Amino acid sequence: MAASAERLRHAWGVHAVYVTTLKPGVVELRLVGFDVLRRVRMPRKLRPDLLRVPVALREDATPFVRDYRTVPHQLTLGATLSGKSMYLRHLVAGLARQPVALVGIDCKRGVELAPFAPRLSALATDPEQAAELLPVLIKEMEDRYDLIKARQGIALSMPDEEITSDIWGLSEHKRPVPVVLFVDEVAELFLVATKKDEERRDEMVTQLIRLAQLGRAAGIYLEVCGQRFGAELGKGATMLRAQLTGRVCHRVNDEASAKMALGDIAPEAVSAACAIAPELPGLAVAGDTSGGWSRIRTPYLSLGDAAETCRESAHLVPDLPALKPFRPDVPVRPPAETPSPVVRPRPVTD
Ligand SMILES: Nc1ncnc2c1ncn2[C@@H]1O[C@H](COP(=O)(O)OP(=O)(O)O)[C@@H](O)[C@H]1O
Ligand SMILES: [Mg+2]
Repeated sequence: MAASAERLRHAWGVHAVYVTTLKPGVVELRLVGFDVLRRVRMPRKLRPDLLRVPVALREDATPFVRDYRTVPHQLTLGATLSGKSMYLRHLVAGLARQPVALVGIDCKRGVELAPFAPRLSALATDPEQAAELLPVLIKEMEDRYDLIKARQGIALSMPDEEITSDIWGLSEHKRPVPVVLFVDEVAELFLVATKKDEERRDEMVTQLIRLAQLGRAAGIYLEVCGQRFGAELGKGATMLRAQLTGRVCHRVNDEASAKMALGDIAPEAVSAACAIAPELPGLAVAGDTSGGWSRIRTPYLSLGDAAETCRESAHLVPDLPALKPFRPDVPVRPPAETPSPVVRPRPVTD
């Protein structure tokens, strides 16, 4: 069937024919009449599930779901203006309505993540703040491991690496809230000017590696975005990349960047990523760990709409005392949006 898909496409005069095996003896043929990625419209009936966000559309018109329980950590690469921040925006807006703590590191002075401040449990907008925030997340993770050990009757001295259970095994009222850490423009975080910066950077890379290695069981997930992610980011960067198993590659400027994103998990997808045209921001190639890949594209979502979702769901910010000091200041609503009163209040003077 797969071999005749191309002929079927012409015979039926459709945009594409996709063949998938459902079970031995049963294949599914999906006929797609037009290029669904040109103007993305998500299927309307999508069941919202904890830690599952339908973030984009695949070229076969099925939703591409970012599922943190199956793929805990992801790396999203792409050139400037390729649509990375849009991808993050969808995830933030999607998770905002769920009982999940959202933490942001955005070292481009918070241009992308600060508008979501009302719903963020913590936000770091420069490497100094991030260097303070990461150890707190590590501590939170270790506390969660201790909690799991206590509930399972495991000795506290047992190394965290050997624990096989996770927070989902805890009863609901004891279970700590999941945390998703968003890092936009990871290179900005690792930028160094001095020798002292270098030490700090190496420490942060180590901390991120530790979060990536052990975070899943503690319900802490990483979502990392960047233009490139290679050895130039410093010691340990490639090791960190190996831990981020979910991969999405937007338009890139060179093959080397596409290889950084997809080379180690879906080598055939590299050329597909290199062929993405700049006219279609948001178009990307998503690899999965089984070696398969698909072309996806996010729908358009304005920053204002995503920020509005965060304001509306501000009451859902979970109570995490450790993160309190990092809770961002919530900007006051721009005055243009609140209708001005007909009678202007006058200050009372005597
Ligand atoms: N799926 C999409 N559909 C339409 N426009 C998009 C899409 N994704 C991104 N854009 C637009 O492309 C531009 C760059 O997107 P952005 O996410 O900021 O890229 P990056 O973070 O990679 O630099 C923005 O103006 C954005 O509105
Ligand atoms: Mg961006």
